[in-house]
Amino acid sequence: MAKIFITRQIPEAGIKLLKQKKYQLKISPHNRVLAKSELISYLKKDKYDALLCLLTDKIDSEIIDAAGSQLKIIANYAVGFDNIDLQAAKKSDIMVTNTPGVLTETVAEHAFALMLAIARRISEADRFVRAGKFDGWAPMLLLGNDVSKKTLGIVGLGRIGSAVASHAVRGFKMRVLYYDVKRDIKFEKEFGAQYRKLNVLLRDSDFVTIHVPLLPATRHLIGAKEFRMMKKTAYLINTSRGPIVDEKALCSALKNNVIKGAALDVFEFEPKVAAGLDKLDNIILTPHIASATEETRSAMSELAAKNIIAALGGKKPANLVKN
Ligand code: DGY
Repeated sequence: MAKIFITRQIPEAGIKLLKQKKYQLKISPHNRVLAKSELISYLKKDKYDALLCLLTDKIDSEIIDAAGSQLKIIANYAVGFDNIDLQAAKKSDIMVTNTPGVLTETVAEHAFALMLAIARRISEADRFVRAGKFDGWAPMLLLGNDVSKKTLGIVGLGRIGSAVASHAVRGFKMRVLYYDVKRDIKFEKEFGAQYRKLNVLLRDSDFVTIHVPLLPATRHLIGAKEFRMMKKTAYLINTSRGPIVDEKALCSALKNNVIKGAALDVFEFEPKVAAGLDKLDNIILTPHIASATEETRSAMSELAAKNIIAALGGKKPANLVKN
């Protein structure tokens, strides 16, 4: 009977599918990220055929070696897979899968929620009321900025970037600029979107939202130089991966009014937040919850399970990552 190690409790939907297959499941009993040594020790204790891991588990060559040559698949419970050493997996002939598609709308919603929240100062306003400072309607109280009809710059036109464009154009009548390594003429026609080089997009956008994967080429894609290219009135939204934004440079840009505001769901040194960022009023911080809805996290759980079932059944998983 095939054995599966799951690094942390995930929604039941996927677990149920794996149990129906009568696989032997070992789920980490700790409601936290396992230390590398703990994960290695779990993997060495038994011979697992599949590893279901999270974006918070760094799966490197040492972990892969510890798992042993019987390991067939590493199923990541995330669409991003920068936590996995793909070369090491390939060398050991291990399949790697992710969970694309099922979280697209949910992450796009969160990007939009952040955009609205920072532009309309929702967190500040909430703190204001809770502090007992609201003593009546006032004409100049907590003025924000409109989102509707503004220019949105989308950096990275994958599934999520495209879904954000759809909300922006159809819901908020925004003008959409986008930057990616390649142009998408069909997308341009559908949304009236315009392709721009990154520097031009940064110069012309009122809101910039990041949707690129974390790769060596995208680490610190947005830093001090890029903030200086942006409008002083612009807002930055990041729901992709923290290290794409140089957080120290962001902190300085926000303090010195180089840009107007930012909203982050992901952090450069997650779960730590760069010193000073949490003291600023012109930033909103959420704890990597862009995909965190009951519906989506269940769907991710099912998809990760289905990828494992396919791999252990000798089939090609639907969400095989190229390595
Ligand atoms: C992912 O799936 O990569 C997301 O970051 C999860 O929220």
